[in-house]
Amino acid sequence: MRPAWRGAPAALRLPGWLTPSLLLLLLLRLLWCPHAARGDCGDPPDIPNATVETVNRTTFPVGFLLGYYCNKGFMKIFGKVNAVHCLENGEWSKPEVFCQRSCGSTPRLIYGHKQDIYIPVSYHPAGFIVVYECNPGYARNHSVSANVTCLQNYTWSKPEVFCYKRSCPDPGKIENGHISIPNGTLFASFIYFSCNPGYKLVGLNSTYCYYKGNDMVWDDPFPECQEIPTTTQKPTITDAQGTKAPSAPRQPTTVDVPATKSPSARQKQTTVNVPGVTIIASGHTFMTLTVLLMMLVATGYLS
Ligand SMILES: *[C@@H]1O[C@H](CO)[C@@H](O)[C@H](O)[C@H]1NC(C)=O
Ligand SMILES: *[C@@H]1O[C@H](CO)[C@@H](O)[C@H](O)[C@H]1NC(C)=O
Ligand SMILES: *[C@@H]1O[C@H](CO)[C@@H](O)[C@H](O)[C@H]1NC(C)=O
Ligand SMILES: *[C@@H]1O[C@H](CO)[C@@H](O)[C@H](O)[C@H]1NC(C)=O
Ligand SMILES: *[C@@H]1O[C@H](CO)[C@@H](O)[C@H](O)[C@H]1NC(C)=O
Ligand SMILES: *[C@@H]1O[C@H](CO)[C@@H](O)[C@H](O)[C@H]1NC(C)=O
Ligand SMILES: *[C@@H]1O[C@H](CO)[C@@H](O)[C@H](O)[C@H]1NC(C)=O
Repeated sequence: MRPAWRGAPAALRLPGWLTPSLLLLLLLRLLWCPHAARGDCGDPPDIPNATVETVNRTTFPVGFLLGYYCNKGFMKIFGKVNAVHCLENGEWSKPEVFCQRSCGSTPRLIYGHKQDIYIPVSYHPAGFIVVYECNPGYARNHSVSANVTCLQNYTWSKPEVFCYKRSCPDPGKIENGHISIPNGTLFASFIYFSCNPGYKLVGLNSTYCYYKGNDMVWDDPFPECQEIPTTTQKPTITDAQGTKAPSAPRQPTTVDVPATKSPSARQKQTTVNVPGVTIIASGHTFMTLTVLLMMLVATGYLS
């Protein structure tokens, strides 16, 4: 369900070099002298460490606005004009030096991100410090710096590992079953469930450590190990119309867990085990199957 504005026409998009301040300048100029008269401009001027936008022409009419981009490794200085325009006398307006050396975009990390105040900043001169913080699921290691610095050679200092994975609570034990922890209980680790012989797993056979708000939690409810009844002989059919079967196995009350941001698209399934009948229910079909099950019980098939 994407918001409608996402599909807005691209017609409103302006070329990258056309900053709002520049647009304003252009508008003011158009208002001032709507009908410039004579003189065309020739070759555009050089601007240090910048490249002129590509235009397929050699002469430019009066009022023509020509934009420039900073070369790689340079950034626009805030407030400087990154364009020239053709004046009435056939000369280009005086170009401004608007590009300065800068570190590129800040390092991307798995465990952290730069603080919000740095998001709009793209000009990073030498010595510029950007402060990071930990991503959810991680905690800050305060003995290590979370800063990166733009060095004299305009590369970023190597970020340290300033966060560590947080841990989920000890999963403990499940009755009549086993929890396998092959890789610890840290953020994003999986644990696996199995049942002792003679027991059947009801629920999911694995879950993983995730964050929920500020807490670390196991992402799914733990399953149950339910005893498989030992009577394997075919049930004898009685005439007990409408009588309740007291020995009918209890059904789980919670049958389906809400879909979560599982890294692997595990199927949410519930296995209901009754003597001689194994039903794998999923989603809405569970209701239908429950009714079917009740009918079987009612007709005495399962007693
Ligand atoms: C940046 O521009 C200056 C002045 O034109 C020039 O001396 C310098 O070599 C340029 N730097 C790079 C990296 O191109
Ligand atoms: C400029 O001309 C070249 C070759 O004639 C063409 O490939 C290119 O698309 C043109 N660029 C623009 C912006 O019109
Ligand atoms: C924090 O960083 C120090 C220095 O690198 C390291 O020795 C220590 O193990 C880290 N602590 C944690 C909890 O990761
Ligand atoms: C990290 O940057 C902050 C803010 O600029 C500063 O107060 C702090 O001293 C820096 N820490 C280190 C270890 O450089
Ligand atoms: C930039 O300087 C740092 C520190 O002096 C050095 O470790 C790094 O290799 C340099 N990077 C390049 C691309 O020269
Ligand atoms: C255990 O975790 C480590 C580090 O997160 C990972 O490299 C490794 O593949 C994991 N092993 C298993 C069996 O999941
Ligand atoms: C866990 O359950 C999924 C589907 O519910 C199944 O594909 C997978 O084989 C099961 N894994 C084990 C170890 O039983």
